[in-house]
Amino acid sequence: MPEDMSPGASPFDMRRTASRGRLLWISSWALGFALLGIVLVAGTNHAVAWSSSDTFCGTACHSMTWVAAAYRQSPHYINPVGIRASCGACHVPYDSGHATAAQYVELLLFKVDRGAKDFWYEARKSIATKDEWEKRRPALSNTFQNYLTQHNYITCRGCHSLDAFGGARSHMKVVIHRGLANASSFDCLQCHVNIGHVYEQPASKVNGWYTAEQAAAGEKLFAQSCAACHGAKLEGGGGPALIGATWKQSFGGAKLLRVWGEIRGPMADYAGATFTTQQSLDILAFLLQQNGLPAGNKPLADTRELSDTLPEK
Ligand code: HEC
Ligand code: HEC
Ligand code: HEC
Ligand code: HEC
Repeated sequence: MPEDMSPGASPFDMRRTASRGRLLWISSWALGFALLGIVLVAGTNHAVAWSSSDTFCGTACHSMTWVAAAYRQSPHYINPVGIRASCGACHVPYDSGHATAAQYVELLLFKVDRGAKDFWYEARKSIATKDEWEKRRPALSNTFQNYLTQHNYITCRGCHSLDAFGGARSHMKVVIHRGLANASSFDCLQCHVNIGHVYEQPASKVNGWYTAEQAAAGEKLFAQSCAACHGAKLEGGGGPALIGATWKQSFGGAKLLRVWGEIRGPMADYAGATFTTQQSLDILAFLLQQNGLPAGNKPLADTRELSDTLPEK
């Protein structure tokens, strides 16, 4: 029997002992709950991360076999800076960003909803063969592209901040993305196709890269806006030559997108002009023609076609 419960302890002492006991009891429960809370939070977090990982999404799910192989061909799997974007980083909101408390709850609801649907499809083996996959792919791709557009590319922006471009040789990227940073809606995939998944290497342009009419239209625009600095024969002047060795050094092996970005971004600024997308593509066609790339019967008409790579030599 504790000392202060001994006969002769005053009623005041006994009340104090009882309340101390209650305090001890409450605090051990509180501690227990806190520990349980920590374990639950850690467990939930682990489950969220695990179920968005490449291993889970790309390997455990049979239906994702083909898309996972295409992901391993993309610049987000292997790249010069050695940072890998996982399936969840692009496909699950806030996985790559820092969610607030409310967003975290939203993330959990998203996971539950998505997880249940994925589990249902996987269990029914609704995509069991490559043929079946090819049939389903366009619709799945559209659904996800719509999701990204509707949510302003929230997952991409968890890693890429549009106003964080800069550094050496980045002037064009700064100019090109500058307008987007303040826009209320934009579409990264309009310029950057094959960013999460590359199914096949782009076919070589055996049938030509642009049309002759298009290059002729580009030639006129070039004479008006560019020749003063780059020379009528692209030989250079105030600006660098856009033909021969200089061209190859700058753009050999680069995507068409890079040349187009120069024209549409800083060069339009230098020329004090605003080009429509079509006009900037026409100027690009002229530059390609002057650098010996063949014309064909299909004009360059959309920035989505600019992921093709220029010849190295
Ligand atoms: C860098 C971001 C990114 C990563 C990482 C990524 N995806 Fe995607 N995913 C996309 C984009 C963008 C699309 C829609 C456009 C397209 O089809 O490429 C897409 C489309 C898809 C589609 C629809 C079908 C299709 O091919 O268009 C599925 C399914 C998919 N991804 C699953 C996955 C899985 C599984 C992983 C991991 C193994 C993964 N993704 C990794 C960005 C990404
Ligand atoms: C986990 C972070 C992360 C996420 C999420 C992410 N990226 Fe990237 N992204 C990177 C890294 C790292 C690189 C490689 C950078 C380099 O090569 O210097 C890259 C490269 C790129 C490139 C240049 C690669 C090329 O070949 O042109 C583009 C464009 C791009 N990302 C767009 C996107 C888009 C669009 C999304 C959303 C669908 C996205 N990224 C999601 C980290 C991320
Ligand atoms: C109007 C076309 C356009 C849109 C829309 C656009 N970009 Fe770009 N982006 C470019 C151009 C042009 C480049 C330079 C390409 C190069 O140098 O090869 C570029 C380069 C990049 C790069 C760096 C590539 C590298 O390897 O240096 C990243 C990352 C990128 N963009 C992310 C994004 C994201 C994320 C979005 C959407 C929020 C977006 N871009 C929207 C045109 C665009
Ligand atoms: C006021 C002079 C000026 C005008 C006008 C001008 N440029 Fe340029 N251009 C330059 C300079 C200087 C550079 C070197 C890079 C820089 O300063 O951004 C350059 C770079 C380029 C590049 C990149 C070359 C490389 O080797 O990296 C291309 C492509 C280009 N210009 C095309 C054009 C086109 C097309 C037009 C017309 C729409 C144009 N320029 C108008 C001065 C000009």
